[in-house]
Amino acid sequence: MDKRPIGVFDSGLGGLTAVRQLMDQLPGEDIIYFGDTGRVPYGSRSNETILKYTRQDINFLMSFDIKAIVIACNTADTAAGSIVQREYDLPICGAVRPTAKKAAMVTKNNRIGIIGTSATIRAKAYDGIIREYNPGVEVKSVACPLFVPLVENYRTQPGDPVTEMVVAEYLQPLKDWGCDTLVLGCTHYPLLSEIISGFMGPDVALVNSGREAACQLAETLRRANMLSGNSEPGKVRYYISDSAEGFSNMASAFLQKPVEQLVSKIDIERY
Ligand code: DGL
Repeated sequence: MDKRPIGVFDSGLGGLTAVRQLMDQLPGEDIIYFGDTGRVPYGSRSNETILKYTRQDINFLMSFDIKAIVIACNTADTAAGSIVQREYDLPICGAVRPTAKKAAMVTKNNRIGIIGTSATIRAKAYDGIIREYNPGVEVKSVACPLFVPLVENYRTQPGDPVTEMVVAEYLQPLKDWGCDTLVLGCTHYPLLSEIISGFMGPDVALVNSGREAACQLAETLRRANMLSGNSEPGKVRYYISDSAEGFSNMASAFLQKPVEQLVSKIDIERY
């Protein structure tokens, strides 16, 4: 048993999709969440910058006595995951591999659409891993750089005319192509699930990378006998690198729990 908290980070709100899943699956675990809201988005930046940010995010989380880390950000995982897994001496679970594996298993017509940030799509992060698990699959990828700003600005409600239009513009080619599985290859995108699903139709399965990253961590902790064993609900503390105001409202709405008291602003450049 290991009662230390789990560290989770993302460039902003997206990693809450992993936090929500961790709260459901491992309710007794304490969590420290860092959202780099002062520097979001990561997805339009160079690999060098994303690696630097990822190291700083991990250094900040390591300033607490944590037992494991979830990179709840496909962009950071793609650009830096394998590097930081070698550099730091604790389990670090990324989002891309478990999500790719899930998609490879879910598809029935062997056509998988992948959407993500420009950095993730540019690196073809998903293509090779999906084929490792299912060599017969065809993939088609589309970068959706406007989705993260829409989510960070709370434009997530079905019926929002701007978001509906942007979703249609990006996803029409994948809909026309006929994929039966769509990888939400950015942890922000599940916040747009209703709009995306409404556009793609009920027969297209959405694979949520925040959920898959959390499942992977749960499995890793179970196997290593590192679960907390607590029967009381764990505490979650939130840290961000910009104003807490908007973050608390959106996080409370998304997690269906008040988080105002638990959000603190930090200076990430110090790490
Ligand atoms: N949520 C992140 C991801 O999973 C990145 C968003 C961004 O900062 O561009 O890719």
